[in-house]
Amino acid sequence: MTAAETLTAPTTSLELLDLEPAVEQMARDVVEALSRSPQKELPTQYLYDERDSALFDKICELPEYYPTRTELAIMEQHAAAMATAAGPGALVIEYGSGSSVKTRRLLEQLEQPAGCVLVDISREHLLRSADELAARFPEVEVLPVCADFTTPFEIPTPAATVQSRVVYFPGSTIGNFLPSNATRLLQQMAEQVGPGGGLLIGTDLRKDPAMLEAAYNDAQGVTAAFNLNLLRRINRELSANFDLDGFRHEAIYDEELGRIEMLLLSRHAQEVTVAGQSFWLSAGETIRTEFSHKYAVEGFHRLAAKAGFAPQQVWTDPNSLFAVHLLRQA
Ligand code: AVI
Repeated sequence: MTAAETLTAPTTSLELLDLEPAVEQMARDVVEALSRSPQKELPTQYLYDERDSALFDKICELPEYYPTRTELAIMEQHAAAMATAAGPGALVIEYGSGSSVKTRRLLEQLEQPAGCVLVDISREHLLRSADELAARFPEVEVLPVCADFTTPFEIPTPAATVQSRVVYFPGSTIGNFLPSNATRLLQQMAEQVGPGGGLLIGTDLRKDPAMLEAAYNDAQGVTAAFNLNLLRRINRELSANFDLDGFRHEAIYDEELGRIEMLLLSRHAQEVTVAGQSFWLSAGETIRTEFSHKYAVEGFHRLAAKAGFAPQQVWTDPNSLFAVHLLRQA
């Protein structure tokens, strides 16, 4: 589906604004990313289909993967202060609906929120989260939008009066974008919230590389399954012929650039066909599937400033693993 379309999904009574990208778009994105030289890539956003979203939920519970539980602990401890800083009558716009536990903590504390817009690329996941949230907060209007949030999308208007707009972007997903793309995304958020609007955002902090590499190379192999499943999805949706046994997951921390790179390493020389196009991979060649940037607090504030956001408050955990920032559009 390419155009904005409002429909009532079968599993929910909530109105869904459906902007899910078409398969043709996915084919174009995948072919373009695989054609990059010297480093072949695959578009990160396609990691998060229904099955991958379930695998990602598993990642969040892994002993090595500290970000989710650390951010949740920050929310548990400071949600009241965040809500006070956000102010009454806020329309919360959550980018990525996978983190509804954290959203719940926020909504519990907000004074008369005007509504909660959930934006996610995975329709099923989105509708489940929206249903759960609507059941838990019957007094809050929940507005699901199925869209790729990296491109401009329409924000639905709730029935209640909106006193301010606040984008909530938990999970350190901003780290999955290159700084230039992160700036563009933050600019989009700044436009959506308008002057005086807020941005509550989670970022993963720089830390011991060993801890970072363990978090993305877990002992149970869940992250590996998550990464390899991207090939399965491309096989299924784009009639490709990736041999999953011919690839191995790897995650490497680049200390200078402060980022994890998630890769799929070709175990041997091979040819793959995707959407009718052939690609050669030599033995040991990698396809990069994801970045995960780690920011010092000041580094992130410099990035946000480029998009017109000024820092208002920062909350961290006792071990300084993770930060939640409240910023204001100047
Ligand atoms: C979604 N995002 C914040 C995760 C991260 O940590 O960068 C994605 C992830 N990839 C592998 N493990 C987790």
